Amino acid sequence: MPKDPETDAHPRGPRHVAIIMDGNGRWAEAKGRPRLFGHHAGARRVREVVEACPALGVKYLTIFAFSTENWKRTQTEVAGLMSLFRRYIAKETRALATRNVRVRFIGDRVRLDQKLTDLMDRMEQETAVNDGVNLTIALNYGGRDEVARATRRLAQDVADGLLDPAAVDEETLPKYLDTHVLPDPDLVIRTSGEARISNFLLWQSAYAEYEFIDTLWPDFTAEELGRLCANYGSRDRRFGAVKTGAAKT
Ligand code: IPE
Ligand code: IPE
Ligand code: MG
Repeated sequence: MPKDPETDAHPRGPRHVAIIMDGNGRWAEAKGRPRLFGHHAGARRVREVVEACPALGVKYLTIFAFSTENWKRTQTEVAGLMSLFRRYIAKETRALATRNVRVRFIGDRVRLDQKLTDLMDRMEQETAVNDGVNLTIALNYGGRDEVARATRRLAQDVADGLLDPAAVDEETLPKYLDTHVLPDPDLVIRTSGEARISNFLLWQSAYAEYEFIDTLWPDFTAEELGRLCANYGSRDRRFGAVKTGAAKT
């Protein structure tokens, strides 16, 4: 497939890439270091990946940072992750703002402490004018939790007489999801060799292409993202229809 010589982008590359950034713990353990060492290394990978997006034609990047199930980890790991998120957001806000990146968060903020949610609000506000890459960070995010919260709001609109139950269809529910301003992901990547989606973007990924790769997240590079975007360009997405030019029925 010919590339755009100006950018490096494939004409049929993914517009929205979502990444399940997995394997930080195993990466650290392999080095005889604590799991949090892996989380710090993982957070440092994000900048290179975000910066690679414009040249690849990726307009939306969504990354899974902490799931609604990750609270089950030890108190030390959870507290270390929350502290890492605070430090990361405080440190990266300026850098992302000057790189024309617009940041949004998805997930339930209710369980997050206020210091963190204040930093998240500030990051969203300070990058809101940007129109380059749309970076969405899923923090305390679970696909089932998101659908449940959306359903609760939808039911409230019905109870308030704002919505007719008979008019609820496939277009209605996504308007209540955290991702309501985002297109569906075209390509979902999971690092670390696990072939599961662990409650990530359940509704939105109904027709996404998937890549499960062995690389542990702290070893993931822009080059690997480029290779996966190129693979995507050669796939045939049919959305339930029959390929154009297929044999006659
Ligand atoms: C992903 O890495 C980061 C989070 C889930 C917060 P893991 O911490 O799950 O790393 P592994 O899977 O144990 O190697
Ligand atoms: C998924 O990874 C969540 C994130 C990457 C934030 P996990 O490591 O939590 O998923 P499981 O437990 O292997 O399914
Ligand atoms: Mg994991």
